[in-house]
Amino acid sequence: MEFLSTGIDGLDSMLGGGIPRKHIVAVVGQHGTGKTTLGLHFIHAGLINGERCIILSFDEDEDSIIEDAKNFGMDFESYSDNIEITRLEAAEVKESLRKIKSDLPEVIKGMNASRVLVDTISIFEALFDEGERYKALASIRNVLKVAEVTAIITSEADKANPMFSKYGLLEYICDGAISMRYIRGSELEEVRLGLEVVKMRRVKHSRKPKPYEITENGIVVFEKEEIF
Ligand SMILES: Nc1ncnc2c1ncn2[C@@H]1O[C@H](COP(=O)(O)OP(=O)(O)OP(=O)(O)O)[C@@H](O)[C@H]1O
Ligand SMILES: [Mg+2]
Repeated sequence: MEFLSTGIDGLDSMLGGGIPRKHIVAVVGQHGTGKTTLGLHFIHAGLINGERCIILSFDEDEDSIIEDAKNFGMDFESYSDNIEITRLEAAEVKESLRKIKSDLPEVIKGMNASRVLVDTISIFEALFDEGERYKALASIRNVLKVAEVTAIITSEADKANPMFSKYGLLEYICDGAISMRYIRGSELEEVRLGLEVVKMRRVKHSRKPKPYEITENGIVVFEKEEIF
């Protein structure tokens, strides 16, 4: 199996090498746990490897994504020929879905992209009612699968169960799921960040949550350490 580096050494180790090529992986986490940052590492790792990459954002526009990356020492501007950053207006659901279904396959093909980041799907999911949500997610999955890209889709966590995505559907349509969350030993202890590989089809991966930090160089996973 061929693995793609996530750009985060400790996470690659936890995954047994990286994300399997053509896998679609959900990254689920509470606000501020570093979901976007993890996605940016994945895209940056592709760029420095000479790959073409696409970011679809429901949150931020192109300039602020480039700024986010720069804040962590990742230079996206030098790779402007190899990266396409698109902001989808979540308010226009039908238009967003149409763009994903008809434009995205063409963009991927046209630039021969191998990596895609979708950040964050929760905003898109919120626009559908229960019956339509799964279908909308499945159609995004199908586009990515047919295009044979490797993808990360970020999602907000469920408030009661931070391991699960907000609507509890994303992890089923994805090949893998990674949980990023706040872990508090006791009221008096400082909150720590923990990362766990919840699922990765066809891969023998670790299941233990491992501590990580967000630094000026982005995410560092301490895969050999324990959280407490
Ligand atoms: N230069 C830096 N050094 C250390 N930590 C930083 C730095 N810049 C940002 N952070 C941390 O990273 C967090 C933001 O990470 P990120 O935006 O990836 O999280 P997120 O899970 O995508 O959040 P959201 O749910 O708001 O989209 C900040 O809340 C802050 O704690
Ligand atoms: Mg984010």
